[in-house]
Amino acid sequence: MAELLNIGILVGSLQRDGLSRRLANAVIALGDDRVKMQIVEIGDLPLYNPELEDAGMAAWQRFRSEIAPLDGILFVTPEYNRSVPAPLKNAIDVGSRPYGQSVWAGKPAGILSQSPGALGAFGANHHLRQSLVFLDMPAMQQPEAYLGHSANLFAADGSLVDGSAKDFISSFINAFASWVKRHTAGTA
Ligand SMILES: Cc1cc2nc3c(=O)[nH]c(=O)nc-3n(C[C@H](O)[C@H](O)[C@H](O)COP(=O)(O)O)c2cc1C
Repeated sequence: MAELLNIGILVGSLQRDGLSRRLANAVIALGDDRVKMQIVEIGDLPLYNPELEDAGMAAWQRFRSEIAPLDGILFVTPEYNRSVPAPLKNAIDVGSRPYGQSVWAGKPAGILSQSPGALGAFGANHHLRQSLVFLDMPAMQQPEAYLGHSANLFAADGSLVDGSAKDFISSFINAFASWVKRHTAGTA
């Protein structure tokens, strides 16, 4: 049997019980028969400063070594001030350096953005896409995923209860798995 794809999820918000982490956990549960997914933590990463590259920076090394072997990256993120939350941008910066040693290059990516507001974090989703172009990460274009009114999708215990959201996420996972396969074929 072919090995399951190994996907890393970067959760854009640091809230332990935030909507993004709830959504990421729901994605992992919904896709576990098709793809192996795990959250790669970003909350312990010091702000990126190239001058500290020679100082060890264990958290940066840990992060880079967790990302490097993955087949693809799924970003599950809210929007902060119409852009990507700072911890997520910092994680992207950490993974992109030292110059010439980016762990992102060529890795297929997907984006699921969410907001309790109506727009589903469209701004963050598209700002993120701008970075992915520069990082040479092929980003799945369809289906787009802007989950609006996301607070209504979960029960009090954090589980995803909205049926149409479940269906949508399930089809998103299928499309993303195909996207990752297409972009990793022949590179293993
Ligand atoms: C600093 C800050 C900025 C925010 N800016 C936006 C925004 O631009 N657009 C939006 O839809 N929601 C915005 N929000 C609300 C977040 O979407 C909301 O807090 C969401 O629950 C955060 O995701 P989380 O639950 O995964 O932490 C902002 C929240 C914070 C704390």
